[in-house]
Amino acid sequence: MDKFSIRSNSLAETDQIAALISPLLKLDDIIILEGDLGGGKTHFVKAFSKALATNSPVTSPTFAIANFYPIQTGNILHIDAYRLSGIPEYRDLGLDEYYYDSITFIEWGKKLTTEFRDYLFLQIHLGKGETERILELSYEGKRWANRFEEIQEKLATFKI
Ligand SMILES: Nc1ncnc2c1ncn2[C@@H]1O[C@H](COP(=O)(O)OP(=O)(O)OP(=O)(O)O)[C@@H](O)[C@H]1O
Ligand SMILES: [Mg+2]
Repeated sequence: MDKFSIRSNSLAETDQIAALISPLLKLDDIIILEGDLGGGKTHFVKAFSKALATNSPVTSPTFAIANFYPIQTGNILHIDAYRLSGIPEYRDLGLDEYYYDSITFIEWGKKLTTEFRDYLFLQIHLGKGETERILELSYEGKRWANRFEEIQEKLATFKI
């Protein structure tokens, strides 16, 4: 599995990183977010929504488990798996029926990875100071193989 790491020095850089990746995303994509508490998973989804031009504000879905935000071609589906007890509870929610017309972001989704053949995996760790963040990107499955190269090229200036 390929992987690479990038550094964000500020909220503005995280927004820039999301804006660079967002044109490469398409419906039926699954992006799994993991990492330190307060690392910026929710902020990253917010940054994607901004880049994909929705008007809805993205709040942390911790209490809602799932939120939809309309984009031009479908939805952003923002799932927070933090409070899910495991795969049976996730399956009971039936969220997979919405994936085909959504770009789906799953915070704390590592415990669900066996449910997916293809996903982009993003780990966000706290760095030095208040606003440095280290993001490690990797993927699973053929769906991402070529795009992962493109993402890597787009983010070349942020690479560590
Ligand atoms: N470079 C940065 N990138 C992203 N967020 C940053 C950065 N610097 C500071 N922050 C701040 O870090 C916080 C991240 O909070 P956020 O809720 O997005 O994290 P989270 O990983 O979703 O948290 P949780 O673990 O509770 O789900 C925000 O207050 C944000 O303003
Ligand atoms: Mg969060």
